[in-house]
Amino acid sequence: MSETATVDNRARAPRPDHVPDELVRDIDMYALDGIEQGYHEAWKAIQTPGVPDLVWTPLTGGHWIATRGSVIREIYENPDRFSSQVIFLPKEAGEKYLMVPTRMDPPEHTPYRKLLDSGLNPARIRMVEDAVRQAAIDLIEPLVPHGKCDFARDFATIFPVRVFMAMAGLPLEDVPLLVSLSEDMTRPQGNTPEEVAALLDAANQGFFAYVEPVIRERIGGTGDDLITVMVNGQINGERISHDKAVGLVALLLLGGLDTVVNFLSFFMIYLARHPEKVAEIRDDDLKLRRGVEELFRRFPVVSDARMVAKDQVYNGITLKQGDMVLLPTALSGLDEAENANPWELDWERKNITHATFAAGPHRCAGLHLARLEATVTLQEWIKRIPEFALAPGAQPIYQPGTVVAVHNVPLVWPTA
Ligand code: HEM
Repeated sequence: MSETATVDNRARAPRPDHVPDELVRDIDMYALDGIEQGYHEAWKAIQTPGVPDLVWTPLTGGHWIATRGSVIREIYENPDRFSSQVIFLPKEAGEKYLMVPTRMDPPEHTPYRKLLDSGLNPARIRMVEDAVRQAAIDLIEPLVPHGKCDFARDFATIFPVRVFMAMAGLPLEDVPLLVSLSEDMTRPQGNTPEEVAALLDAANQGFFAYVEPVIRERIGGTGDDLITVMVNGQINGERISHDKAVGLVALLLLGGLDTVVNFLSFFMIYLARHPEKVAEIRDDDLKLRRGVEELFRRFPVVSDARMVAKDQVYNGITLKQGDMVLLPTALSGLDEAENANPWELDWERKNITHATFAAGPHRCAGLHLARLEATVTLQEWIKRIPEFALAPGAQPIYQPGTVVAVHNVPLVWPTA
C-alpha cells in the first residue's frame, strides 16, 4: 500500500458561493488530524459544543460534514432529499463506484434490497452459526499456547473473510486478491480527486473482473450459496440482469470483507485495555450476547456520504443539488445527545441509538452476520484466553477512510 497523503499536499476545492466562511473547517477524511490518538477520538474532536449541524471542508473535493447523531440519522433516512446516487468521496471517485444497490434510491432500490435480504436474513444466518463458530475456534486454538499474537493479522483479517468465502462458495486462495482490492476501494490513496478516482475505478474493475466468471458459472445453478441465490434472484418478476448481478455480488464481497475486520480489532483493543469489562461478561453469556449492540454503538467504522438531491435549506444552511455530505457514523453513537457517557462501554446500556450500520433504506444488509461474527469472536476468545492485554509499548496504527483500518493489535496473555 502506498504512503498516506498528508493534508498539505491534497488538492483544495474553491469555496462555492453558497457556503459561508464561518462554516468552513479543514477536515481531511483520509488524513484526520489527531488520528494517532485514536480514530473515534479524532472524529469526536469536531463535535464541539455549539458546532453547526453541517460544516464544509475544501479537502477531498470539497464537501459538507454532518456533525451530530440526529443529523446523520435524518440524512440517511431521507433519500428524497439526500440521494445515494454518490456515496464515496471525493465525488469524482464516488461516480466510478458501481456496486449495486448502494447507489440506487427507492423505489428502484427496493427489489434489490429484498433480494439481498433473502440471502442475509436472520434465519439464513442462523443456518451458518456452527460453521462461523468453528472458523473462530480453528483460528484461536493454535494461538493459545503462544501467549501473544497480532489480533489484526492473526484473527480479524482472516475470520470474517473465511466466513464470507464459505457462505459465497469461493476458494480461500482468492482471499489476498480480494483483500487488496477492498483496501483500494475503501482507503484509496492519492493526492488529487482524479488520482483517487483512478485508483477506485481500477479496484472496482478488479472486483468485477473477479466476479464475472463466477456469476456466469452459477446462473441457472441450484446451490444454496449466497452467490447462486443472488444471481438467480428475481427483480420485478424477471431474473436479475447480468450487469446488476455483477454489481450486487461485488458489493457483497466488499461489505463482508472490510467492515467486520476492523470493527473486531477496535473492540479487542478496548477490551485489552479494560480487563474489568472482560471480567463482567466472562461468566455471563446473556450479558455478553446482549452487549454486542453496545459494541456496535461504541466502535463505528464507516464514514460514507449522500448527495444533496435538490436545492434546499437544511437546518438554516443553504445546500445545492449535487453537494456532497459526509456522514461520519463515529459522530452518532458517540454523541452525548444520543447516549449519556458515550465513551463508557456499558454492557447493560438501555435505549442504545447509533448509526453504525447507517439508517433508512440502505441500513446494512449484513448486520445479522456481523452480529453473529462479533458474538462468536467474543465467546470463543474469552473461553480460551480469559485474560489478555496490549503488548507493552504497543501503539495501534489507524488509517481513516470510508472504512477505517486498524493495522496492528499486538496482544499478550499468560500461558499455562
Ligand atoms: C461491523 C460490520 C459492518 C458495518 C459497520 C457495516 C456498515 C454498513 C453501512 C454504514 C452501510 C450503509 C452504506 C450506505 O448506504 O451508505 C452498509 C450497507 C451494506 N452492508 Fe454493511 N456493515 C457491516 C458488515 C457487513 C457484512 C458482514 C455484510 C455482508 C455481506 C454487509 C453487507 C452490506 C450490504 C450488502 C450493504 C448495502 C445495503 C443496501 O444498499 O441496501 N455489511 N453497511
